[in-house]
Amino acid sequence: MDKTMLPRHIGIIMDGNGRWAKKRLLPRTAGHVQGAKAFRKCLRHCIDLGIEYVTFYAFSTENWKRPQDEVNAIMKLFSDYLDEGLDMYEDDVVMRFIGDMTALNDELRAKIDKMQSETAGNHGTVCNIAVNYGGRDDILHAAKVLIKDGADPDKLDETAFSERLYTAGQPDVDLIIRPSGEQRISNFLIWQAAYAEYVFMGVLWPDFTESDLDAAIEEFAKRNRRFGGV
Ligand code: FPP
Repeated sequence: MDKTMLPRHIGIIMDGNGRWAKKRLLPRTAGHVQGAKAFRKCLRHCIDLGIEYVTFYAFSTENWKRPQDEVNAIMKLFSDYLDEGLDMYEDDVVMRFIGDMTALNDELRAKIDKMQSETAGNHGTVCNIAVNYGGRDDILHAAKVLIKDGADPDKLDETAFSERLYTAGQPDVDLIIRPSGEQRISNFLIWQAAYAEYVFMGVLWPDFTESDLDAAIEEFAKRNRRFGGV
């Protein structure tokens, strides 16, 4: 792989967990368990490749509409992940949780704060996990912060706006990958994806492997070579 053609920031919509479970006559939650494993594998591969930023869409502002059991099971997966902590392989990763954390319970929020503060001084891949995240909510929240900051509308520009988003300080997303055959953006990083390349793949998220990530990056590099140059 040509390392100079790597995207700086990759966004991944982890979709297809339910269908993966259904195909195996398993409860939907089994798909999420397998999805969490695929997440870990994918993050490790991003580290190997030297990807600077990766954002995983783990729970949207709309996902609260799912059956309570399923919501609880997903929250438990987050909680277990935070308890396990990062291993040696991931010890230079900066972990960030983006979205409206006020809707999460105090215990989960405390664990998130702990992981964020423990990794804030690291220098490796920045991994955003989008939880209770919506692109519209991100934009609305930024607008509220700007108003509270007393921003002057005549001086407001895109840079100042971006600095109030949950991804403040990070580059826009270059490549968005959506597995599972769906071809929608589903309220993911809508401001940040203004110039993103989209790669839609048939594989269900729990089956997503390192080579699927490589294939998406190769596709990105091809498109960039065609359109990006002079
Ligand atoms: C979408 O698939 C998936 C989710 C809403 C949950 C994603 C959560 C995980 C993969 C767990 C992540 C864990 C950590 C530790 C970050 P779907 O359920 O909508 O699938 P379907 O479209 O096939 O029904």
